[in-house]
Amino acid sequence: MNILVTGGLGYIGSHTCVKLIEAGYTPIIIDNLYNSKKSVLKRIEKITGQLPLFYYGDIQDKPFLDTIFKKHSISSVIHFAGLKAVGESVTKPLEYYENNVYGSICLAQVMRDNQVNNIIFSSSATVYGEKNATPYIETMQTGNVTNPYGWSKYMVEQIYVDLHTSQPTWSISLLRYFNPVGAHPSGLMGEDPQGIPNNLMPYIAQVAIGKREKLSVYGNDYPTKDGTGVRDYIHVEDLAKGHVAALNNINQSGVHIYNLGAGIGNSVLEVLAAYEKACHKKLPYQIVNRRAGDIAAFWADASKAQRELNWQTECSLDDMAKDSWNWQITNPNGYPDE
Ligand code: NAD
Ligand code: UD1
Repeated sequence: MNILVTGGLGYIGSHTCVKLIEAGYTPIIIDNLYNSKKSVLKRIEKITGQLPLFYYGDIQDKPFLDTIFKKHSISSVIHFAGLKAVGESVTKPLEYYENNVYGSICLAQVMRDNQVNNIIFSSSATVYGEKNATPYIETMQTGNVTNPYGWSKYMVEQIYVDLHTSQPTWSISLLRYFNPVGAHPSGLMGEDPQGIPNNLMPYIAQVAIGKREKLSVYGNDYPTKDGTGVRDYIHVEDLAKGHVAALNNINQSGVHIYNLGAGIGNSVLEVLAAYEKACHKKLPYQIVNRRAGDIAAFWADASKAQRELNWQTECSLDDMAKDSWNWQITNPNGYPDE
């Protein structure tokens, strides 16, 4: 069964392609290589023994998308393609809305024109905004988002809900990821941030490898267990499996919303300690001011995905740190250019 995977060479997309192949699906990847490298394909082949079909192109290019739908019989789409840097979205809102919102509209239009009505969309816990109490539950009202990136996810969710209302045969899964970290246990695939990492674990990884001097911990005066921010970290392998679980359930029309998280909160200092254990050394850090827009603590109520998709996380925080470190140490400069 052919599954079109937009953004399939990126961090989460590449891990999901491996799981798709292992589950007997055939991923067909579209990516404009804005935040990924073609060499990821060879890594997927090394792990699975299969080189996925890849088309270089942009989801905003409707004629390009149309040729792919005409050429292949596609049963479902997993839509990862998007820009994801929160800080950058504040300085480049138009680019973020164009790529993430307009791109998602183009994709859905071409799907509709080709009678492909099954889509799984990469949303984020950020849509729960600032006002909800933790743990987050899918039925909570979304909104009160703090940045254009988050609003772009909120908007695409709404657009896809409206699309389903207009044409109820669609099956739309909105997967709200919590904090994906870690890497493939082989060390062949992982997160390859360009420039200074924005997120916690990739930053710690670069401190551990000696690329950054020390971690800045953004605040230790939150009302949490040790005063530092608390998040729900999910191993990218578990997250990838969540997509296969959603795909196995895709034949039911409707809008299906799932939190994909571990359902556990860990603090910044706990993540740091897990990483120190993985790399067998103490890692330097300093406490600095809170980061603007940060929330003290949130994690998922992931019981709906467990109930309906028969999916739950299997990896621990130690596994996440171990696999992240294994990727970092074996690929200190990320993926090769070719
Ligand atoms: P990523 O940047 O590693 O992967 C996204 C991929 O999409 C990249 O390979 C990029 O080149 C491609 N792409 C971007 N715009 C495109 C376009 N217009 N046409 C074709 N390809 C395009 O990001 P990721 O971490 O793998 O995230 C995947 C999705 O999950 C994104 O939509 C992201 O917003 C969402 N998400 C990520 C996180 C996270 O922490 N990583 C959390 C919540 C949601
Ligand atoms: C961030 C995004 C969120 C996005 C998510 C993807 C912001 C405000 N939010 O969430 O929209 O969906 O990434 O995973 O950017 N921390 C440090 N030092 C660092 C980096 C982070 O102390 O160098 C702390 C943060 O304050 C936070 C925790 O580590 O408490 C996790 O941060 P991060 O990995 O950036 O994720 P989120 O803030 O949850």
